[in-house]
Amino acid sequence: MIRLYRELKKRGVLGLNARNARYIMPRNPRRYYPLVDNKILCKRRLVEHAVAVPELLGEVGSQYEAGHLANKLADLDEFVIKPASGSGGDGILVATGRYEDKVWHGSGGRLLALSDIEYHVSGILTGMYSLGGQIDTAMIESLVHTDQRFRQLAPEGVPDIRVILYRGIPVMAMTRLPTRRSSGKANLHQGAIGAGIDLVTGLTLRAVMSSRQVDLHPDTRHSVVDFQIPDWETLLTIATRCFEAIPLGYMGIDLVIDQDHGPLVLEMNARPGLAIQIANDDGLGCRLAAVDRLDNPESRSAQERLKIGLELARDDWGRK
Ligand SMILES: Nc1ncnc2c1ncn2[C@@H]1O[C@H](COP(=O)(O)OP(=O)(O)O)[C@@H](O)[C@H]1O
Ligand SMILES: [Mg+2]
Repeated sequence: MIRLYRELKKRGVLGLNARNARYIMPRNPRRYYPLVDNKILCKRRLVEHAVAVPELLGEVGSQYEAGHLANKLADLDEFVIKPASGSGGDGILVATGRYEDKVWHGSGGRLLALSDIEYHVSGILTGMYSLGGQIDTAMIESLVHTDQRFRQLAPEGVPDIRVILYRGIPVMAMTRLPTRRSSGKANLHQGAIGAGIDLVTGLTLRAVMSSRQVDLHPDTRHSVVDFQIPDWETLLTIATRCFEAIPLGYMGIDLVIDQDHGPLVLEMNARPGLAIQIANDDGLGCRLAAVDRLDNPESRSAQERLKIGLELARDDWGRK
């Protein structure tokens, strides 16, 4: 145990306290929190900065509206409903097609009647899934159809790509692959696979599921290591540009790849989890320290910040 701890420390693995005290508190101005903690506000801000996102199809803000969704959903054959202030994949309802008038196909072969959806939305509004349990808004979002190249790896649900930006510089990335166990969601604690990504090449490095190392996707037996993430350069460029929209010093950007619209930003996160280090078999500490040796990286353009991140990665964050 002590050896493991020493080993992790040597690799600069960051713990929760250090993340909060050294990086989140000093680098994330509180005034930006409402913008990232509410997915509707975040989306609006990203659109203002010409960052592509899944389309917002509607909002539901009152219990009265929640009980009368028929009109709002009348023209929508497929959609996703989620809590604007949700996290961890909780409270997300996915309708993948229409079964009949007022009934849709849900994920996992389940049928969703209008009354089920209204009940779910009503729960969202009471704050059942929101960060501090406060009253929430439900958002209706267009359904992302994963790019074919990516879908072969994770056939159920929508895999996403998480990029950590520190002071505007991309420092670590992973892809999260839904499994049958995670009910199609890409959140690790729901049972999805996390695979670290080589920032320079976009190839997956190694993968973990429930903190255990895995090489194959449990549902498809497809190898999850050495997989080329499609559109890697574009994904990194978009993630790096998010710093212009909301300049949080330490944040996680979640992206997806849509078959028709290409890479889209799903959400931004002011307190990204630390499991990304296990998926990459490397600590963030070393990488963040390398960025802290730079002089005012925030003032650089997105293009320059991306270039700096890739150079640091090639240089193994100053360890070479
Ligand atoms: N519009 C969408 N289309 C398809 N799947 C989605 C959509 N939005 C979310 N998901 C799935 O749910 C997961 C969590 O969504 P996200 O918006 O990041 O919320 P959370 O804050 O709960 O993580 C995503 O990684 C993806 O797998
Ligand atoms: Mg997320």
